[in-house]
Amino acid sequence: MNPSFPSTQKAELPVWLQQDMRSNHAGETGAVFIYRGILAVSRDEQVRRFAQSHLETEEKHLALITNELNASQLSLFLPLWKLAGYLTGAMPSLFGSNAVYATVDAVETFVDDHYREQIARLRREGIFPELRKLLEHCRAEEIVHRDEARQAGSGRRNLLLQFWCRLIGSGSKAAVGLARWR
Ligand SMILES: [Fe+2]
Ligand SMILES: [Fe+2]
Repeated sequence: MNPSFPSTQKAELPVWLQQDMRSNHAGETGAVFIYRGILAVSRDEQVRRFAQSHLETEEKHLALITNELNASQLSLFLPLWKLAGYLTGAMPSLFGSNAVYATVDAVETFVDDHYREQIARLRREGIFPELRKLLEHCRAEEIVHRDEARQAGSGRRNLLLQFWCRLIGSGSKAAVGLARWR
């Protein structure tokens, strides 16, 4: 069950916050598809249990964020975020559990920063405390996801996996830029 956060007056969000929320919606959509991608490919029982429980959390995050936006405020590029998320989950699954855990660690590290910056701005400006609490709730669960991935992985990363994790960081940053714009 999601905790309930009284929905903010949608039309009243300042433009920058609408852009942030659009990128959050895009990101949570991508997250759902990452775990679907993992579940489509991985036959490792431990990975599948991990992905299934994370998927359920990401679906709740997506529902919470969706509730804060009108349909017209969602990203134009949702099909792209779904595909990118799916591939981000499916591809490392071909290489085994350690690649999956490293991927989730990289993704959730990015998401932690992403939410932390938004929470800090909302706190600085002293606005939309309910929305801030919603983001704090999501962020706390992303940190759990990151730590679970870090613990489950071996910590060993060959050059290809290091490159992949850096690509996730820069790709996520580019995706946020595009989703904030539209
Ligand atoms: Fe999430
Ligand atoms: Fe997450």
